Amino acid sequence: MTLRSAWLAMSLTIVGLAAPGLASAADAARGAKLAYTCHGCHGIPNYKNAYPIYNVPKLGGQHAAYLVVALKAYASQERAHPTMYSHATTMSEQDMQDIAAYLAGQELKPTGKAVGAAPKAAQTCVACHGIDGVGILPEYPNLAGQHEDYIRAALKAYRSGQRKNAVMAGMAAPLTDADIKELARYYSSQRPALCSTNEIRDGGKCKGL
Ligand code: HEC
Ligand code: HEC
Repeated sequence: MTLRSAWLAMSLTIVGLAAPGLASAADAARGAKLAYTCHGCHGIPNYKNAYPIYNVPKLGGQHAAYLVVALKAYASQERAHPTMYSHATTMSEQDMQDIAAYLAGQELKPTGKAVGAAPKAAQTCVACHGIDGVGILPEYPNLAGQHEDYIRAALKAYRSGQRKNAVMAGMAAPLTDADIKELARYYSSQRPALCSTNEIRDGGKCKGL
């Protein structure tokens, strides 16, 4: 590649990256209105999913960018879940961005400090989810304080292929049930913690944070 064509390719990439920025910035106030149906499950601490039974995930303090990734995965059925499919398929890209900005509230920040000793199986996880359960990139979910049984269910879903994600499929494949139990216990006990959405309704801050 000549220097000139390399420069051209690079500037085209920059233009390509800038293009999504043309969509209007996330509007958390609009997101708050759109999210009222979500509180029925995500706002109730310890609200359970049925068949299999596990706690509905906490979304408060989660990375907004990850929330959008997750909603798109339900819409495309890379994550199979009937309720979340019907919610996600009625949302536009802008709806997802706005709802995510509201639900994230004040995103968790890395502390660099672990609560308790990390299990051996966490050695590979910390590169992305941090030692304290705070994802090092906005697209990597925060796990700190997430429900233990939900983390277990998610890891088993990646391992069985029920959740289709190339990165996590590879990470979950070698895990035993005992590893999954230890990892879920470890990450759910990290602090500051994610919270349920009813806790972020006032002022975007939850008690867990
Ligand atoms: C009937 C209960 C219910 C309602 C209402 C509901 N959800 Fe969910 N949601 C769930 C369950 C259960 C899961 C976990 C599904 C799974 O195992 O993948 C989930 C998962 C999610 C996730 C993925 C979280 C993660 O950590 O990956 C997001 C994001 C989400 N919901 C957003 C929403 C939004 C936004 C709304 C409102 C428009 C909403 N949900 C309404 C039950 C519900
Ligand atoms: C290379 C980066 C990377 C590594 C290493 C990694 N993950 Fe992930 N993890 C991700 C990404 C990206 C997602 C979101 C996948 C999706 O969209 O479903 C994710 C999702 C998850 C989820 C689902 C969270 C939720 O809210 O639904 C759990 C639980 C999880 N990872 C645990 C682990 C564990 C435990 C390990 C170590 C064995 C690990 N991860 C290693 C990047 C990584």
